[in-house]
Order: sequence, then structure tokens, then C-alpha cells
Amino acid sequence: MISILDFTRDDLEKLFEETDNMRKRLDEGNVPKILSNSIIALAFFEPSTRTRMSFETAAKRLGANTISFTSEEAISVSKGESFADTIRMLDGYSDLIIVRHKYEGAALFAAEIAKAPVINAGDGKQHHPTQAMLDLYTIRYLKGTVDDLVIGVLGDLKYGRAAASFLLGLTHFRPRRIYLISPQELKLRPEIKELLMERGLNIKELNSLVDVLPELDILYVTRIQKERFPDLREYEKVKGSYRISSKLLFSLAKKDLKILHPLPRVDEISYDVDSTSFAAYFTQARLGVPLRMALLKLILLGGES
Ligand code: CP
Repeated sequence: MISILDFTRDDLEKLFEETDNMRKRLDEGNVPKILSNSIIALAFFEPSTRTRMSFETAAKRLGANTISFTSEEAISVSKGESFADTIRMLDGYSDLIIVRHKYEGAALFAAEIAKAPVINAGDGKQHHPTQAMLDLYTIRYLKGTVDDLVIGVLGDLKYGRAAASFLLGLTHFRPRRIYLISPQELKLRPEIKELLMERGLNIKELNSLVDVLPELDILYVTRIQKERFPDLREYEKVKGSYRISSKLLFSLAKKDLKILHPLPRVDEISYDVDSTSFAAYFTQARLGVPLRMALLKLILLGGES
């Protein structure tokens, strides 16, 4: 499971129905331990709070065991062992491998080596498919549909894998219009833009949010990905170039606008937005548990329960 484009709309609808089921089971305190025979490896070569811990929570809620590491320093890669050999070891120890890595293509390479299924939990600036699934599910949860909405995607569209995966995920649906809002230096990479257009998304690029904010049903905000800039002087030029405040939202946004953010947030959304009805990013993060429960079930057990 490398890219959100590996899935069809029907696959996503099935996943969302299973996520509804998991959400209900969690609310009722009635989660069956259907993965009690499974061991899931969490191979995080790069930092993570939400993806790693929501996968771990999801696995444990379903009765699975996990093995994990959270940095290269903690494993024998620090002694010179290769990525490939590390994956071979995890393949021998577990039933499913979840990989996050700073290099594009790392999860695909792991999938070529391992017999066990591999989930890409983020590879460089390229893909973050389970985040895209979560984003799409959250919109469906908040608005009842992903179709026919006006969606703004604001921030670092050049280096942000979550934004790119979300946009690719939207091509499975029929949103009315997508605004790509970023500083000139952080515009969406041409290869992703071409894919969006080929797949029929109605997109428009802008530098400023203010003109389109009154139209938006969803505003997806991302942080500037400092760690992916080849030259930190370039980062210094764009840092802090946008910031969403409650004053801006109350003066220009629709009352039912919802703000999503894959998190972590740095300074792009003021803390005063958190207590408004616009803020949906913490709900989004919480929904990561039932969504990843559904995903683990569908991958490890197929449609059976
Ligand atoms: N959204 C996301 O990928 O967050 P983490 O980096 O904390 O996993």
C-alpha cells in the first residue's frame, strides 16, 4: 500500500464503511480482538506522533501485538546495517510492516523485499496514503460527502506529502473546485499538478487565501516542511508567510467552514482558532484510530471479521 492512487473509489467507500463500524465499536466499548494472532511491525525511520501512535493504538484495540522502533539510532542501521536487511528481519518477525522513511521510494522498496504486506506511512515528500484516507474520511464525517465541495489547500504544496496525497485522493471524488494556495516558492510540483488535471480535478493556483476564503467549505492547512528544504536559507525566506486567525475566519469564512490539518502545527494556525467551530483538526487526528483499525482489518483479514 504505497500510494492513494493504488485504490479505487469503491475501495475507499468500503474502508469508510468499515471505519464507521469501528467508530461505533469504540463508542460502545465493544471492539472484537480479531487480530490477536497478528504481530505488526512499526518501522519508523523518521519522527511521528499521530501516524505511529494511531497505528499502534489501532493494532492494540484489535488485539494485535506490535514491535517497533522510532529512529535509526535505536536499531542496527546505526551500526551499518542496510535498510533492506532491516526489512528482511521485520518480514521474518511480523505479519505486516508499516514504514516511514525520509527517502522517496523507501516503502515501495520495502514492499519489493518483504513477503508481508507493507503500508507506506510517509516516504519523503512523496506519499502518505493513510493520511489521505483519513482526510477524505474526515470530510465525509463532517460534511456527509466529498463531492461538490469547494476546497482550499494552503501551505507548503511543494514538499508536503500529506497535501500531495490528499490532492491525489480527491481525484477519486468530484469536488466542485480546488484552490491551491501557497507562496510562489512552495507551489505544487508540476508532476502532481499534471496528474490532478489529467484526472479531471478543477484546480486553480493562488498566492493569497483572502479572496477565496468566503467560498470554501473545507480549508486544508499544512505546515512549511523545514526538514525537506535542501537549503535552509530558502526556508528562512518563506517561514511564517501565512497564519490563520479566528479574526480572519469570523470576518470572511462561511459559518460551516471546517479547517483540517494533518498536524503537526507550527505557527500556521493561531491557537485561538482551536476553540472555534471551524477547527476540525483534532477530530481529524482522533479519527485516525478507527480508520487505521478498519485498514488493518481489511488488509489482514480481508472482508472477514
Ligand atoms: N500527520 C502526520 O503524519 O503526523 P505525524 O508526523 O505525527 O505522524
